[in-house]
Amino acid sequence: MKKEGVVNPWEVSGDIDYNKLIKEFGTSAISDDIRKRLEKAHPLLRRGIYFSHRDFDKWLTAFDNKKKVSVLTGRGPSEKMHIGHLVPYLVAKSLQEQFNCDVCIPVSDDEKFYVKAGLSMEKAKEYAEDNILDLIALGFKPEKTKIFQDFVYTDIYKYAAMCAKEITYSEAKGIFGLKPENNIGWSFYPAMQAAHILFPQFKNGKHMTVVPVGIDQDPFIRLTRDIAESFNFDKPSALHAKFIPSLSGNSKMSSSDSTNDVIYLTDSPEEVKKKINKYAFSGGKDTLEEHRKLGGNPNIDVSFQYLRIMFEPDDKKLAQIEKDYKSGKLLSGELKSILIEKINAFLKEHQKAREKAKKELEKFILKS
Ligand code: TRP
Repeated sequence: MKKEGVVNPWEVSGDIDYNKLIKEFGTSAISDDIRKRLEKAHPLLRRGIYFSHRDFDKWLTAFDNKKKVSVLTGRGPSEKMHIGHLVPYLVAKSLQEQFNCDVCIPVSDDEKFYVKAGLSMEKAKEYAEDNILDLIALGFKPEKTKIFQDFVYTDIYKYAAMCAKEITYSEAKGIFGLKPENNIGWSFYPAMQAAHILFPQFKNGKHMTVVPVGIDQDPFIRLTRDIAESFNFDKPSALHAKFIPSLSGNSKMSSSDSTNDVIYLTDSPEEVKKKINKYAFSGGKDTLEEHRKLGGNPNIDVSFQYLRIMFEPDDKKLAQIEKDYKSGKLLSGELKSILIEKINAFLKEHQKAREKAKKELEKFILKS
């Protein structure tokens, strides 16, 4: 049964029509021209996971004109991070590598505190501290990367207040669909996220900032673009990603999925192997005979999708895997083994880097 897609900062569900979202939100599709300007584009950009943008061409042009540019993307902390969460940070890192620009990552422990029933402030802060280790482990340049937590870097409050003063209640309600029973933290929080998005300009003056995010976060971008002019700032630009499917093929890998449906950054090699072999939705045929004859369907195969999205950056190798799978030469179990090996190699390095990150915190963290 098809269920109509719902996409907003507080809910993502159903069947999502991404082209329709471009029209509904009034964004632009990422053109080949833009892709060409990204010489070492991450597979996420090259292969269309990032599908939409606002003014990213202007950001690139500002860079070409030797103007300052920056990248900002935030993290709503959760108990532990999974591979789907990595999408915006991997792109932020690849932009930092190509353009040698500043990256800023605010961590909205306050957002989770307001929005998650039963979550204590202490827990929200703990989640933030945990997730920050994963962010640092991705290998951002320490001298050009700043991370902060709303509950810790309280200097952010004055910027949030400045933004709050520019946003009327009815605007926030219209954009975020606030409900009467929501606590008023929900209505204030958009001012905080606007402050995050404008933070590079509050700190370093007017310039182009790009915000790589899931398309569900676009309402915050819209709101922030509307108020940027009151501070005489550039309207922030955005890059919008599609959602990464869960192992069983749900449209968005989510922290609230069952632990068997997601791959955590802390999973052991055995866990990864078990989860993929047992739960990754397969586009293969039911019997060996049928599969050899008819081949598999990579478009619905979650293991193939993960390789395409981030775990097989080599275009030639990916094309060969696709061809062999479609022809029936490569079996579903063999495809899964390729993915298991790739993910485990990535996680091995990541988990080492995460341990090292514990000693590097002070290079990255902003304190009041
Ligand atoms: N609200 C975002 C989320 O839940 C996290 C976030 C906080 C963010 N500040 C941001 C995203 C600024 C982009 C820009 O995922």
